[in-house]
Amino acid sequence: MSRNIVIFDTTLRDGEQSPGASMNLGEKLEVAQALVDLKVDVIEAGFPIASPGDFEAVRSIAENTKGATICGLARCNDKDIDRAGEALKPAEQGRIHVFLATSAIHREFKLKMDKQEIIDRAIAGVKRAKSLCDNIEFSPEDAARTEIDFLCKVVEAAIAAGATTVNIPDTVGYATPAYMGRVIADLKNRVPNIDQAVISVHCHNDLGLAVANSLAAVENGAGQIECTINGIGERAGNCSLEEIVMALKTRSDFYHCETGIDTTRLVPTSRLVSSVTGLEVQRNKAIVGRNAFAHESGIHQDGMLKNPTTYEIMRPEDVGFQKTDLVLGKHSGRAALADRAKSLGYHLEGDKLQEVFEAFKKLADKKKEVYDSDIAALIDKRVAAH
Ligand code: KIV
Ligand code: ZN
Repeated sequence: MSRNIVIFDTTLRDGEQSPGASMNLGEKLEVAQALVDLKVDVIEAGFPIASPGDFEAVRSIAENTKGATICGLARCNDKDIDRAGEALKPAEQGRIHVFLATSAIHREFKLKMDKQEIIDRAIAGVKRAKSLCDNIEFSPEDAARTEIDFLCKVVEAAIAAGATTVNIPDTVGYATPAYMGRVIADLKNRVPNIDQAVISVHCHNDLGLAVANSLAAVENGAGQIECTINGIGERAGNCSLEEIVMALKTRSDFYHCETGIDTTRLVPTSRLVSSVTGLEVQRNKAIVGRNAFAHESGIHQDGMLKNPTTYEIMRPEDVGFQKTDLVLGKHSGRAALADRAKSLGYHLEGDKLQEVFEAFKKLADKKKEVYDSDIAALIDKRVAAH
């Protein structure tokens, strides 16, 4: 039986914290609607105490965006929590997300609080949030660098105080998959009330491991993944939504998990977020990059024309691309050229194919990519010469 994984999107909160990614209210509303169409479960719409603009964005998304739980972030103090509660009032379903750092580094240098003070503050914050909203998420910030015994105590206290989701952030992208898997397994084994809450994971990508770490967390019992479209976020970004969702879908044989995501909306949503933030998607980005379903090598193109599963583990239309792109370049072979010519309305075979192929190879040596118009011109020239 497959287990449902809650997809918590934080593009509008952690994603917007990417340098240069800020969005105006209209853009945020558009992205929020696209996230609903994508069928994410939870949208973290912002950090209401951060600025009047952030408050208004969360309030307005809560009022206008229906079909997902709308979440607002708050530090573990009354002012932040009350502001988040206020912004979320119009939501059909709201969630307050309270966070407090727990690692020794943060305790000593940032908060100047001891362990007991952290536990007391976490309990007070969750209780305050619970008085405003039933659905409460608690995050021990920098959990991946927190002593495991202390992390278990904080998580237990937060659940006892009313947290319905406990999120384990790898705030600085320090974890590796085996390590993250062990943290989640330890929490499952050692926190007595852990089954009363959903365990979530929030991985940053400083070592390029955010998706792998999130998968390891799921394998060990996490039921929610926090992620962003195109993996945008602080520094090297967050776990990429499109990658984690397609990893779970493509390898459902191994993970036995599913999400509610409409994967055919992944590419359009990626394009929308890229255009409103101005953060370009790299060409070879998994799932949504321009090259993700493009093949140039002759051997691959020949295999693809015989059966696409030879070189593709996902179907382009399942993530929202029109179709596989057989890019014609110097590595391409006769089969791909004849196929492209056919789609342009020409029939090439025998000597004619060979002649056009030789001319094509000469041109391809000079150009990075040969376009349909180049091919049509090559064929027309040869046909006219006969
Ligand atoms: O990275 C982090 O620790 C966060 C928390 C607020 C969840 O973004
Ligand atoms: Zn984060």
